[in-house]
Amino acid sequence: MSQPVSYRIQDGVAVAWLHNPPVNAFSAHLRAALRDALQQVATDNAAAGLVIAAEGGSFIAGADIKEFARPPVPPITRDLVCAIEACPKPVVAAIQGTALGAGLEVALGCDARLLGPGARLGLPETRLGIIPGAGGTQRTPRLTGPAAALELIASAEALTPERAASLGLGEIVRGDLLQAAIARVHALATGGRPSRMADMPGRMAEPGARQAFEAAAEKLAKRAAEEPQIAALIHALRNAFTMTLDEGLRAERELFEPLRTDPRSVALRHVFFAERAATRVPELSRDVKPRPVERVAVIGAGTMGTGIAMAFAQAGLPVMLIETSAEALARGQDRIASLHQASVRRGSLDAGTARSREALIRGATDLGAAAEADLAIEAVFEELPLKQEVFAALDRVMKPGSLMASNTSYLDIDAMATATSRPQDVLGLHFFSPANVMKLLEVVRTKHTAGDALATALALARRLGKVPVVARAAWGFIGNRMLAQRSQQADRLLQDGASPEQIDAAMRSFGFRMGPLAVSDLSGLDVSWRMRKASGKSLPVADALCEAGRFGQKSGAGYYAYPEGARHGVPDPAAAAVIEAVAARFGRVRRDVGEQEMVERLLYPTINEGARILEEGVAIRPGDIDIAWLHGYGFPAWRGGPMHFADATGLSRIAARLDAMAAEQDDASLQPSPLLRRLAAKGSGFSSLSV
Ligand code: 3HC
Ligand code: NAI
Repeated sequence: MSQPVSYRIQDGVAVAWLHNPPVNAFSAHLRAALRDALQQVATDNAAAGLVIAAEGGSFIAGADIKEFARPPVPPITRDLVCAIEACPKPVVAAIQGTALGAGLEVALGCDARLLGPGARLGLPETRLGIIPGAGGTQRTPRLTGPAAALELIASAEALTPERAASLGLGEIVRGDLLQAAIARVHALATGGRPSRMADMPGRMAEPGARQAFEAAAEKLAKRAAEEPQIAALIHALRNAFTMTLDEGLRAERELFEPLRTDPRSVALRHVFFAERAATRVPELSRDVKPRPVERVAVIGAGTMGTGIAMAFAQAGLPVMLIETSAEALARGQDRIASLHQASVRRGSLDAGTARSREALIRGATDLGAAAEADLAIEAVFEELPLKQEVFAALDRVMKPGSLMASNTSYLDIDAMATATSRPQDVLGLHFFSPANVMKLLEVVRTKHTAGDALATALALARRLGKVPVVARAAWGFIGNRMLAQRSQQADRLLQDGASPEQIDAAMRSFGFRMGPLAVSDLSGLDVSWRMRKASGKSLPVADALCEAGRFGQKSGAGYYAYPEGARHGVPDPAAAAVIEAVAARFGRVRRDVGEQEMVERLLYPTINEGARILEEGVAIRPGDIDIAWLHGYGFPAWRGGPMHFADATGLSRIAARLDAMAAEQDDASLQPSPLLRRLAAKGSGFSSLSV
């Protein structure tokens, strides 16, 4: 391994070059090497002071998150930052890339922070369920003021050099960053150093600071009630008003440690690594080059087609939106315009940007308009013969090497691929509604999909700001196939005596923002009803509601009633009557169902289906399933996703409950899958399968 820090003298100043690829995570060996550099400069007669510098995209990307599972190895960052402050010679940070978390905290210990154009400063710890643990909660507010510090840390966002400089976190350098840092060391060495941050209350003492901070804290009250790290952050920042730096640092550490070991942070760290792993396909070499995609065609301007077109336009890609008639096209374009207008009214989009995005979306009523596209995505009705027809037509008009994708929810993409003369160029790009908002993109490969076609889809996901998860073509792919299990249990729970409100409340208290039945009402019950009818399947309560004309919010009634003007559904005796009639038809003995039972029945069969999906190789790794559920189905991130949650719960417990459910419901399909049973018997977890 090359040295993590190389210490070189340049123009009378020592430069500590950090080198811990790929992102300069602040691992134990990098910390030790920086400590050595600090000790060396203190007695080095050839050096007036020290510049801390790095090359590439990262200055320091923060603590090494992999080390979080173990007790910290000295030197810990907090002590190292204090050692920087205590260094007898000036220390300057030359920040050329990301300085995040511990990276910014190291820089905050320096006498000055000089920012190159690529500098990105942030304290994203709250995203990992923790707070800054190396002085970030104490030194930041002294520089930026406490309200700005709270907003910065709670948002977890990285700041541009301009924004960071305006907050007082650093100074922008236009020319050579290293030369500027060296010159600054000399200036500080000869002209005197600013007093140690410990000695100055800084902007904490400004008039109105306390009031502004409390107002900012009030805005975060809801998050603080739900996220322990936000509550701890507010506490730590409030300490900075009354404590010395040393006291504040000790208190910060006391707040930090229990958060680090909390299962929530363990889950959020799992999510961090799972999101990155999901972009890798083991048999796909990193050398495989994605194909260029500069123009896109979207076929079908319904709910999904318009959302997909907006997602591409948002990423700056020109889109040809193709419909069957001028009327259908106009309806789609009107929908896009009105969604943009709504965003402009809410203030989340400016009118100029909306106009330029709309200008990127052109319309046509002839598939020939897809001829110039590098990628076409069909989002026509969910009917296989129709989709095959569209694929065959695209095959005729599209240039060689262009990609053809389907947004189907369930259908056989292999059967679409074989309707073309180039099945290697066909794959699934399964967006989630609303497609311009939801982060998940299931990338579905068929038996024939070429490696570079898959690589193109993964690269495209990144351009669109989506989180891709790769699946093999099989009914419902990953998410919807698991969802079917949950829907079945929800239906059965209703028959057994649970009310829609109880089911939704149980899932909300588990951590979902919305309950599953409220979600069904929102997306419309008729779509899946039609699909069930076509495939001979049934969900007795859902079917009966549809037969009664209750299609959800759009028809004013579903599992709930939606009186005129109501934003949320209200319990509805008419729905209860439908449910009771179905229960009577099946001879169910209705009873009180406890919350724990509801949670287990809604989640464990879903997890079991996830195990089958892994067994069949439909998903590559358990973490991919977690990411799909987090970004497509609202699974709470702090629970880590269904498979992580299963591991945390213990697979033997889940297997035992599934066996019991199979017996209670007289349904052998609820029995644990062979994989789940095997892992449970070994006392192992899904995480042991990670690749
Ligand atoms: N620790 C360990 N590994 C890390 C890491 C970290 N802090 N940051 C990134 N990595 C790894 C990734 O897992 C990935 O590994 P892989 O190639 O094996 O999948 C590799 O580095 C590259 O990362 P990305 O794919 O994310 O690369 P990008 O260029 O897209 O993004 C980044 C780079 C902006 C630095 C992004 O990785 C990032 O946001 N990193 C995490 C930053 C963070 O959360 N820092 C705070 C840590 S907590 C802390 O500092 C506590 C302190 O207060 C005591
Ligand atoms: P939709 O009914 O809103 O829109 C379909 C559109 O396709 C209609 O505007 C129709 O005129 C058009 N169309 C039909 N045949 C065409 C053809 N030959 N050429 C061009 N346009 C044609 O349907 P929606 O909801 O947008 O679904 C589309 C696809 O996306 C389906 O495969 C569906 O399963 C899938 N999907 C739907 C999701 C949802 O939440 N609605 C989520 C994810 C996928």
